This record gives sequence, structure tokens and C-alpha cells, in this order.
Amino acid sequence: MNFLLPPDQARELFEQARSAMGRAVAPVSEFPVGAALRSVDGAVAYGCNVESRSLLQVFCAERTALLRALADGRREFTHLAIVAAKQAPVAPCGLCRQMLFEFAPDLMILTETAQGAIDQRPLADYFPFPFAGP
Ligand code: THU
Repeated sequence: MNFLLPPDQARELFEQARSAMGRAVAPVSEFPVGAALRSVDGAVAYGCNVESRSLLQVFCAERTALLRALADGRREFTHLAIVAAKQAPVAPCGLCRQMLFEFAPDLMILTETAQGAIDQRPLADYFPFPFAGP
């Protein structure tokens, strides 16, 4: 069951995403992105995008946060805030939508406009016809 995060907690999640964005490794795109993924117990995993100079490997902030949370033993996620230095709001890419769906089908995605207006909507709105695996 997904639910709206209260405004103060939503703002805090964006602060955490912004601080993660400051650690982005994006020498190729120069497009830093940060993400903060909240688990059901309230713990938050941070992610930033990491790019390889080979151009063949790019890890989005959303997947970095997810992998980090999974590696920390978290398995249930409720909210994900995403920020980009050069784009607001920023939406998760298709690859991330698929992976997020597999681990957190009920996730709420939080984005923020340049003016600070927060949008919270279910991942299912971004990814309505998921591939659920063989
Ligand atoms: N990127 C993310 O980290 N998350 C998104 O939602 C969109 C794109 C990254 C991938 C790449 O490092 C850079 O932004 C430009 O696409």
C-alpha cells in the first residue's frame, strides 16, 4: 500500500537526495543526479549517478540507491525522491522503472519542480504495463 509522505518528511528526503547528488560521478554527461530511497522502517539509502569513461556503463542515481539499500539488507521500500542539478522535475529512466518495479512495485516517486513544488505519484503511473518476469 502506498501513501503520501507528509510534507516535512518529503522535504527531508529531497535534502538527502540533494546531498547525494553532490557525490555524483558524471564526467561524461555532466548531469549530476541524486536519489534517496526510504525503506518501510524509515531508513534512507542514498544514490548518485556513476558513469564509466568507457561510455558503456552508467549507473543511475535511482539504481545506485536501490542496490545500496538491498546490499544493506533492506527489502521493502516506500518512497524515492529524485533530483538533478540541471533538470527539475526529473523522472526515472526506463531501465530504472523496470528495476524499481521488480523490488518495489508499490513505491511512491517524489519529484520537485524548480520552484519547489513536490509531486508524489505511484511508480505504477510511470510504468503502467510492467514486464513481471518469465
Ligand atoms: N540519470 C540518472 O541518474 N537518473 C535519471 O533519472 C536520469 C538519468 C543519469 C544517467 C547519466 O549518468 C546522466 O544522468 C545523463 O543521462
